[in-house]
Amino acid sequence: MRLGLALLAGAALVAASGCDEANRPPLPITAAEVNAAAIIAADQRPGVWLSHGRTYSEQRYSPLKQVTAKNVTSLGIAWSGTLDTDRGMEATPIVVDGVLYITSAWSVAYAYDAKTGQRLWEFNPKVDRSRGVLACCDVVNRGVALWEGMIYLGAIDGRLIALDAKTGEKKWEQVTVDQLQPYTITGAPRVVKGKVIIGNSGAEHGVRGYISAFDAKTGEMAWRFYMTPNPDKQPDNAASDKFFAEIGNASWGDNGEWTETGGGGTAWDGMAYDPDLDLLYVGVGNGSPWNQPLRDPSGKDNLLLSSILAVKPDTGEYVWHYQTTPGDSWAYTATQPIILADLKLGGETKKVLMQAPKNGFFYVLDRASGKLISADKYQDNINWASSVDLATGRPVEAATARYDEPQMQIPGPLGAHSWHPMAFSPDTGLVYIPAQTLPSVYAEMENFQFRPGAWNTGTDFTAAALPTETAARLAALAAAKGQLVAWDPVAGKPKWTHDYPNPWNGGVLATAGGLVFQGALDGKFRAFDAATGEPVWEADTGYPALSGPVSYEIDGEQYVAVTAGWGTALPLLGVTGVRDGALQMASPAMGKIVVFKIGGTAVLETDAPFPPDPTPLADDFGSLAMIEHGRELFFNTCVFCHGDNARSSDIVPDLRWSQVSAAKDTFAEVVLDGKYASTGMASFAKILSPDDVESIRAYIINRANEDAAAAPP
Ligand code: HEC
Repeated sequence: MRLGLALLAGAALVAASGCDEANRPPLPITAAEVNAAAIIAADQRPGVWLSHGRTYSEQRYSPLKQVTAKNVTSLGIAWSGTLDTDRGMEATPIVVDGVLYITSAWSVAYAYDAKTGQRLWEFNPKVDRSRGVLACCDVVNRGVALWEGMIYLGAIDGRLIALDAKTGEKKWEQVTVDQLQPYTITGAPRVVKGKVIIGNSGAEHGVRGYISAFDAKTGEMAWRFYMTPNPDKQPDNAASDKFFAEIGNASWGDNGEWTETGGGGTAWDGMAYDPDLDLLYVGVGNGSPWNQPLRDPSGKDNLLLSSILAVKPDTGEYVWHYQTTPGDSWAYTATQPIILADLKLGGETKKVLMQAPKNGFFYVLDRASGKLISADKYQDNINWASSVDLATGRPVEAATARYDEPQMQIPGPLGAHSWHPMAFSPDTGLVYIPAQTLPSVYAEMENFQFRPGAWNTGTDFTAAALPTETAARLAALAAAKGQLVAWDPVAGKPKWTHDYPNPWNGGVLATAGGLVFQGALDGKFRAFDAATGEPVWEADTGYPALSGPVSYEIDGEQYVAVTAGWGTALPLLGVTGVRDGALQMASPAMGKIVVFKIGGTAVLETDAPFPPDPTPLADDFGSLAMIEHGRELFFNTCVFCHGDNARSSDIVPDLRWSQVSAAKDTFAEVVLDGKYASTGMASFAKILSPDDVESIRAYIINRANEDAAAAPP
């Protein structure tokens, strides 16, 4: 009888959602009503975006279909809002009840009226900005979670903060990391069964990764799951104890740098949840140090580095894992976005989990068992491994992959795909991957010494340096490119691709209107026909729109929202690409949230670029040995922010043309005394001597004079 009623109710639901959708009355929901039932039934409310990937399956597919290939050309800007900083923008908005919640760099959260663009509140957690030097890839934040009227924010200093969704007022906060260690948080929390799940980052500097679950109401910690063993292989009194005692510990040797660095394995981005199987899936990051012979000379697999982990969300109990890159030595994280879907495979509908991790293979797993179904290259030039053995689940590595000799390899540490969200359309059955080719040289660092608080990858970044000579540099940069790949996960190959001249393009949104939206590094936001890949629309966002776009509906109008700005790991490249034979450099500009609708007429204000004056402010000084010493230190300490060969995008200052570099004292005030610590440039006094710092300055001045001499008149 009960079963019959439930079936009837189910039938009614199907009938309701099947009836003339254009006239479907919107099912209202307030922020206070966002809970498990609401997120599980997200498809009943296509007009809102309740969780990071819209649904727990994180498909980033909007059922809205007012905007189609036919009318997309009349899409215009409805409103835009400044996000108050020129540092990296990576957040996916959450939208409910006419309010859009977004985060900016430095973990600042905002609420906007989603229709008018009026700012409703701002919450600044006032993080200690000297911690900015601990963020490997800019002080970014990927967004908030919403649950029963509260907003959850992970801050770059390791706090998890709960805010009142209405006012932005702080309700509670928890420090989720040992703040004496170089931990940061950039990822968006997820809320599952009343628990806020959050991971962390810091594997480049040296930390032990984990995820934790906190009670959404009280902030009390429910459980923690470590991704690497306790250095003495003893239990932690954590949810992961059983896994390490039975499986994990044996995959690590007893000595090696990991016992000091923590081994890495940070979970800084991808997660998904299957309410039917009651499994929470988490992507796990690279090793620390990267270089495996230094990390763990035993050469074992080092679980759970570069793995996908399934646990029970109530307790953190281990269920299964799949390791994409055993014994990772290349920063091939498996933290990339995870998508759950039901696919027809060999006449059978299978519940699968899909991921395109950094290592360049697209994985389809049975998400109940963790068993590998398929793994195929989604960029055809991947050369670290030839294939993945489906019987053992292990990659077939190239003989040279482990860089006994310096090795140019594809992909490099930024991956064939990084954090930029991918999307899946159940209409086309395709996964849309923001992929790229970014080769890099891997070389072992000689005489590695762990430097607390600094980069500790155990690889030599001077070997990966691009030549300074312009033609060779342009050629090397030209090899880097981007591609939007519409991947058929059943056939294991692309259905269509769209090429970009530059890598590092934006996250993707798929819609029931038959469109795929993606921003690119060239400052354009585009729509493609989801089935054919034909570009059908583009708009100028002024800045790269790299974050995950979302779609929502208010008063019968469909909106598409995305953030735009510079920053992210771009300063790492120093340039944004090559166009018409010239280097394209970023210039500082405030990040923005940009929102489109049909007939939108707002105009985006873009800041005028102000290129620095390329005149050296000091004469060359120092012996060749001093300059070489400075170059090595620069490449292994400063390059990540101040740019390859000391050419930076100027989002952080280009040191070649900086007044500060002109004199020994002013340079030392910043680099040793921490003069600008409060704005993101901490003191390096713990790891650099005054002589080291002066050597770095000699190298920078040398670079400035070299470039000024090479510049065309
Ligand atoms: C994690 C990023 C990061 C790293 C690593 C880093 N810096 Fe900085 N640096 C910054 C930022 C951000 C600023 C700008 C601070 C400001 O504007 O107040 C800055 C500013 C500076 C300045 C002042 C320039 C000016 O014109 O105001 C100097 C000099 C400098 N850095 C030198 C170095 C040196 C030398 C290293 C390596 C030993 C280094 N930095 C490593 C982020 C970084």
